[in-house]
Amino acid sequence: MASNKKLLVLPGDGIGPEVVGETLRIVDWMAKKRSVSFDIEEGLVGGAAYDAHGTALTDETMTDATHADAVLFGAVGGPKYDDLPFELKPERGLLRLRKEMDLFANLRPAMVFPSMVENSSLKPELVSGLDIMILRELTGGVYFCEPRGIEDLPDGSKRGFDTQAYTTPEIERIGRVAFDLARKRRGKVTSVEKANVMMSGVLWRQVMTALHASEGEGLEYENMFADNCAMQLVRTPKQFDVIVTDNLFGDILSDCAAMLTGSLGMLPSASLGAEDPTTGKRHALYEPVHGSAPDIAGKGMANPIAEMLSFAMLLRYSFDMGEDADLLEKAIDNVLAGGMRTADIMATGKAKVSTATMTDSILKEL
Ligand code: NAI
Ligand code: MG
Repeated sequence: MASNKKLLVLPGDGIGPEVVGETLRIVDWMAKKRSVSFDIEEGLVGGAAYDAHGTALTDETMTDATHADAVLFGAVGGPKYDDLPFELKPERGLLRLRKEMDLFANLRPAMVFPSMVENSSLKPELVSGLDIMILRELTGGVYFCEPRGIEDLPDGSKRGFDTQAYTTPEIERIGRVAFDLARKRRGKVTSVEKANVMMSGVLWRQVMTALHASEGEGLEYENMFADNCAMQLVRTPKQFDVIVTDNLFGDILSDCAAMLTGSLGMLPSASLGAEDPTTGKRHALYEPVHGSAPDIAGKGMANPIAEMLSFAMLLRYSFDMGEDADLLEKAIDNVLAGGMRTADIMATGKAKVSTATMTDSILKEL
C-alpha cells in the first residue's frame, strides 16, 4: 500500500488520553505488521485545549481535522469545566468538529460478542450474535432548526419551542448512506419516523420509499414508526439490520440499542460527511460512545475496547481496510472469549485486568 493515510488524533480529557493511548499501540502494530503507513498528528480538544489555549478547539486544529483523512477522537469534559460558560465548554470542541466537517451521518453499531451475552439486560437468546447498525442523521432536525426559543406570553407564562424540519436532499443523503451500509451487511433497511403525526415524518417516508424504489435494488426495505421501533428493539432486536432515522429519534433509539450490548465501554461510533464526487473522500470522525469518565480517569481501569472498535470502523469506512478491521474485531472477540475483563464488563469467574493488560492481550492475540 503506497499512499500515506493522514490520521488526526484528538485524545481530549479524562480517560480519553488513556483509551486513545492504548489504541495507538494497535495503530502501531497495524503500521508495522500490515505494511500500511499512517501519517499521525496529535492535537488538543475539549478541556485540554481550553487549558492550553482558552478554547475547546483552536482554528488550527479545526483546519488539521478538515485536511485529515480521518479523525480519531477520545472524549471531552469533566467536573473541572462544569462552571465554564456554554461557549467555552469542552463539548463545544466536538460540536464544532461535527458542524464544520458537516458530519451528517452518525453510525452506531450495536454488536454483542458471543462471550458478552451475560452483560445484556435481555435474555441471551434475544441478543446472542446481535449485529445491528443505527444510522442517525446528525446535523439537521429539531436540534438545529429555526425558529427555536423561549418567549413570554401575554398571560405572564412562557412558551418554549423548537422546529423539526427536513428537506428532500437531507433525507436523500442519509438514505443513500443507509442503502450503502445495508449492501455491505445483510441487505435490510428499516426507515423510522412518525409519519402518523408529523409532517416532516410524512416527507421522510415519501422520500425514503421513493429512494428505495430508484436506488435500493435488491435491498429489503420497511417503514416503521419510532415508538414501535423502540418496542421492537427490546422485544426482538435481531429482526433489524440497518435502522435509519432522524437526529432526535436516532439519539434515543441508539442509546436504547446500545444498552442491548450491556456496556458503554464497548461501543464505538463513526460520523461521516458527504463523499467528494471527484476524490471519493469524505470527512470522518470516529469516537467511542462513552464520555471522559472522570470517576475512573487516571486509575488504569478504563476499558479501551470502545476506542479500539472505533479505530476498526475507521479502518473499514475511511481507509478501505475492511480485512484489517475484521482482524482487530476478531482479536478483541477472542480475548473476551478467553475471559479477560476490565472492571466495567466484569462478571463472576472472569479475570479482572487493567487498561494496559487488556491491550497487551489484544496485541498478543493479533
Ligand atoms: P461517561 O460515559 O463518561 O461515564 C458513565 C459511566 O460509565 C461512568 O461510571 C464511567 O466510569 C463509565 N465508563 C464510561 N466509559 C468507560 C470505559 N471506557 N471503561 C470503563 N467504564 C467506563 O458519562 P458521564 O459520566 O455522563 O459524563 C462524564 C463526562 O464526559 C462529562 O463531562 C460529559 O459531559 C462528558 N461526555 C463526553 C462525551 C464525548 O466526549 N463524546 C460523551 C458523553 C459524556
Ligand atoms: Mg444521546
